[in-house]
Formats: sequence, C-alpha cells, structure tokens
Amino acid sequence: MTSAGTDERAFQALTQKISKARGLSCESYKDKCLKRRIAVRMRARGVHTYDDYSRLLDSDAREYQELLDALTINVTKFFRNLETWDALRPYLRQLGAAYADLRIWSAGCASGEEPYTIAVLALETLGDRAARVVIDATDIDRLSLERTQQAKYPDAAFTEMPVQLKLRYFRDDQPLPIVRELVQVRAHDLMREPPPRPLYHLIVCRNVVIYFERQAQERLFKVFVEALAPGGVLLLGKVETLFGPARERLRLVDPRERIYTKPK
Ligand SMILES: C[S@@+](CC[C@H](N)C(=O)[O-])C[C@H]1O[C@@H](n2cnc3c(N)ncnc32)[C@H](O)[C@@H]1O
Repeated sequence: MTSAGTDERAFQALTQKISKARGLSCESYKDKCLKRRIAVRMRARGVHTYDDYSRLLDSDAREYQELLDALTINVTKFFRNLETWDALRPYLRQLGAAYADLRIWSAGCASGEEPYTIAVLALETLGDRAARVVIDATDIDRLSLERTQQAKYPDAAFTEMPVQLKLRYFRDDQPLPIVRELVQVRAHDLMREPPPRPLYHLIVCRNVVIYFERQAQERLFKVFVEALAPGGVLLLGKVETLFGPARERLRLVDPRERIYTKPK
C-alpha cells in the first residue's frame, strides 16, 4: 500500500520520464486527465503502482506506444457538431472572396476527419476556387497521422456527416482526390513548436486545449492570435473558451460555436 504523498511523487516521476523519453510535454496537460489515462493502461496490464508501471515501460516498448495512444485522446468524426460547420460556412465564403489563396490549419487533427471535413466545406462553399486552399493537418500522435494519410474510414466516422456530402466526396469510405489534394499532413507538437506557417486565414483547433493546463492554454491562444492573418478566423471546440491577452485581440462573433475573428 502506498501513501498519497509517495503516490504523487511516483506519478510526477513517471510523467517526467514520459516527457523526457517520448517528447510529450506532460506538464502541459491536466493531471486529472493524465492520471485517468495512465490508470486505464495500468489496469489493462494488471499493474498497481506507478513505479511498477514505470518499470514495465522500460521493458516493453509496445506499452509505451499504447500509453501514448491513450494519452493523446483522439476521438473524432466527420462534421462533428454539424451545426458548427454550418455556422462556419459564411466565414469561409468571406475569406474565399477576400483572399486569393487560403491557408488553413487543423491543429490536433487526430485521424483526419476534421481536415477532410474542412476540405469538403471549402469545395462546397468556394467551388473551383477551393483549388487555392491549403489545409495543414497536424497532430502530435504518430498513429493518428498515419490514419490521416491512409484516409480509410469506418462507418462510425460518418454518423454526423450529411449523406449527400458523403456520396459527393467519398468513394469506398475514402475521400476523393479533389478532397485529399487540399490536405497536407505533418507532425507537430502544439506545446513545443511554432506554427507550421505564418499567417493563417483560418485556424481550427477543437477539443484539444481542453486537456491542457490553464497556463498552457493561455500560451497556445497567444500563438494562435499571432499566427492568424488580419481578418482571419479561429474556431475552437464547443466547450473551449479563449481567455487571457489573446481574448483582447480577437472578436467573439459566434459565442455558441466559439468562432472568433481577428480585426483587420
Ligand atoms: C480529441 S482529439 C480532437 C480531434 C479533432 N480536432 C476533433 O475535434 O474532432 C485531440 C487531438 O489532439 C492531439 N494532441 C494532444 N496534444 C497535442 C499536442 N501537444 N500537439 C498536437 N496535437 C496534440 C491528440 O493527439 C488528439 O489527436
């Protein structure tokens, strides 16, 4: 039996080890989230203390990958929260009319449903002009990025997507080349790296910051504001709210759908 203090020290030692060995900045994530996810892996392997789990990681490289998958929660769907994408349409149309080439960032894209959703929306709202759109799809999780590249999806991924859009833009559960061509997949750690490009017209970062500590969220929001072109749009997840200095620099134009714009 371990005391709460020892347990906490062992937890800190474990997360420091994961950060060092695998480059996941554990200190940026909420302890509650980390503990819940690590507990899932410990139960799965029948291990009862953080120290024993740490030893297991040393001897089993596959468990490290399982743990990283568990820590980077990557649940997603095409057109997740359909009403959000409907609300985004007019902003995308305006951006398409205002700028010759559109740079879009899907940050924390998981297995790719989000960036391909944006690509479909761009094709729907901009027609031929969508060819001038580039969508950077980034995530820290290697497996998620492989799935994004592979772009082969199970039925469960489509439950929120309007059927006519699926018929128009997918064959055999894969996005058509006109959709895929708009998306560039790359590894990127939001906690450690600068944005892949300067001056995006649209940044979509949904259901990612929710797992971060408050300070890490605030830092990231500042990065997003800097990375937005004047007139650009930021879309967060439904339960995520911009705060801190970044909040002063953006206008909340749709409180329900968490859409913000940067004044020109
Ligand atoms: C719940 S998914 C969100 C997927 C999609 N944005 C959506 O809302 O449907 C969270 C994603 O954030 C990614 N993530 C977590 N920490 C990250 C970091 N430091 N840098 C980049 N991506 C990260 C995870 O790997 C995971 O794929």
